[in-house]
Amino acid sequence: MCGIIAAATDRSVGKLLVQGLHKMEYRGYDSAGIALHQEDGVAHLRTLGKVNLLEERMIQEKPKGKVGIAHTRWATHGEPSESNAHPHSSKNRVFIVHNGIIENYLALKAALSKKGYLFQSQTDSELIAHLIDSFLNDGKSMIEGMQALKTSLEGAYAIAAIDKEDSNYFYLARNKSPLLLGLGKDEYFAASDPLAIGELTNQFIFLEDGDTAAVSASGLEIFDENQKAVERNVTKIDISAETTSKGNYKHFMEKEIYEQPQAIRNTLDGRIGGEDVLENIFGEGSSKLLAEVKRIQIVAAGTSLHAGRVAANWFSAISQVPTQIDFASEYTYKNPYIDENTLLVTISQSGETADTLTSLRHAKNQSYLGSLTICNVPTSSIARESDFLLLTNAGPEIGVASTKAFTTQLVALMMLAMSIAKAKNVNPKLRTRIVTALRALPEIVEESLKLKKEIQEISPKIAEKDNALFLGRGMFYPIAKEGALKLKEISYIHAEAYPAGELKHGPLALIDENMPVVALAPESELAEKLISNLEEVKARSGTLYVFGDASSNMQIDSGKLMTMPKCDFLLTPILYTIPLQILSYEVALIRGTDIDQPRNLAKSVTVE
Ligand code: AGP
Repeated sequence: MCGIIAAATDRSVGKLLVQGLHKMEYRGYDSAGIALHQEDGVAHLRTLGKVNLLEERMIQEKPKGKVGIAHTRWATHGEPSESNAHPHSSKNRVFIVHNGIIENYLALKAALSKKGYLFQSQTDSELIAHLIDSFLNDGKSMIEGMQALKTSLEGAYAIAAIDKEDSNYFYLARNKSPLLLGLGKDEYFAASDPLAIGELTNQFIFLEDGDTAAVSASGLEIFDENQKAVERNVTKIDISAETTSKGNYKHFMEKEIYEQPQAIRNTLDGRIGGEDVLENIFGEGSSKLLAEVKRIQIVAAGTSLHAGRVAANWFSAISQVPTQIDFASEYTYKNPYIDENTLLVTISQSGETADTLTSLRHAKNQSYLGSLTICNVPTSSIARESDFLLLTNAGPEIGVASTKAFTTQLVALMMLAMSIAKAKNVNPKLRTRIVTALRALPEIVEESLKLKKEIQEISPKIAEKDNALFLGRGMFYPIAKEGALKLKEISYIHAEAYPAGELKHGPLALIDENMPVVALAPESELAEKLISNLEEVKARSGTLYVFGDASSNMQIDSGKLMTMPKCDFLLTPILYTIPLQILSYEVALIRGTDIDQPRNLAKSVTVE
């Protein structure tokens, strides 16, 4: 989704800003732009399409400056186009970049039009430039103008702005959209994503809602929501170039799939010991709180929601606690009934998903026992605003399609199920069994990655189809859903998932030689029933691609049975995710899609 970077330095800023935009490309975007102070005014360049095109324009036009702002846009209001790209300007004096959504933009636009402001774009963002200009005309300074924005703007915003008449500074304002400062030596940066400036500094300040800032190469001033000058804590975060580069892999997604054994080790590290999960791994006092939990409410989106759906089975079987699950985009608006001693669990890779963050903020005013999050980004809003937190420690996930974040979320959720069981003193033997299984998991996952060759054999057959069906029963239904989501996301093949037993209640009508069926058939008490469901597919000339273990005695005439390594049944959902990720990757590779940045999607979805 949209990305902001700004810098005030003593060196040429253009290249530095473009490099920052490249680092944010993974978020998904459709256009890019830059505005920087030059000796003779402001250089303002925007392009539709990739950051490379902006870079080419800059090579031709050679803008020179030391202070500037830049942006990648992901369209919300108005089509992707050069005129809708940021920065937007007011009378070529004030230039702004904006992330978020201005909810009252129509009313503000009408009021500003009445004052004589002309609009060049269809966006909700351009009015911010005009609004600041109108404040300057009223005699306010630039920082006062930034502060006055909150009296007019409703919604979420992170804004960086420059004023042509004030060439040493850029200005910032934040409300509900991430924005942080980076401190260098005689230079300062700002960005909506720490990865954008992670190679320039490891010292960050996270702005809070209502904050504004005035930044030059010689210093910065931060003001809180009451316009009072404040000091904010400096956080050290090391972002190595290695973690944000593809290494020898073709795509970030490929790298992230093959990193999973290590990512899982990192999630487990320091959280299990001896024969059990350790105390208070979700933060000081968490074990005490977990002992009181009577019900769990999970709120998440997309892949993270699938992790929650698997975990609901574990909370029931291991912790003996019932679970309710909701789409984050639906939760806040359904007027939820909250039972006594219910724990709110949010799950989010990015920690910035607006739907999930809105749910968390809404829940803060409800009668929950507390809020706990499973998150991959320590500095994110969800991580900072939750009462309790377990970081998945998967390392930055750059590919839009979530892979290592999902499997590490599952590992973290399994540790949550065990922590609740431990706090309630239930299932001690089962906990010991799971700890042993968790320790062995990274190696078994490593083993499953070797299925790549067999998957490469079947991928061309799926790549030529327009549809696919994924089947799983019990805990494997959410894994089937995750497999279908991965395939849709990056190969643009329409894919659906069903609990295998539901096939006969409708979707069986779709089965013919053009509908490949991918099925998950681990050894379980449901295995026989599943095999009967798959027979129904065979009888209708369907092609079956089955991932099963050595015990799956299936005769497949059309399709293939691929044998998975064995692991403790409770952890098999994690294991069976791996071949589905490889399958979607290999199919997308054949179809030649933009795997790391699939069309229309964004890594961090910061709008509701
Ligand atoms: C996963 O492949 C997707 N890109 C998407 O469904 C994602 O999981 C969802 O947007 C939630 O993101 P989060 O985990 O960062 O909150």
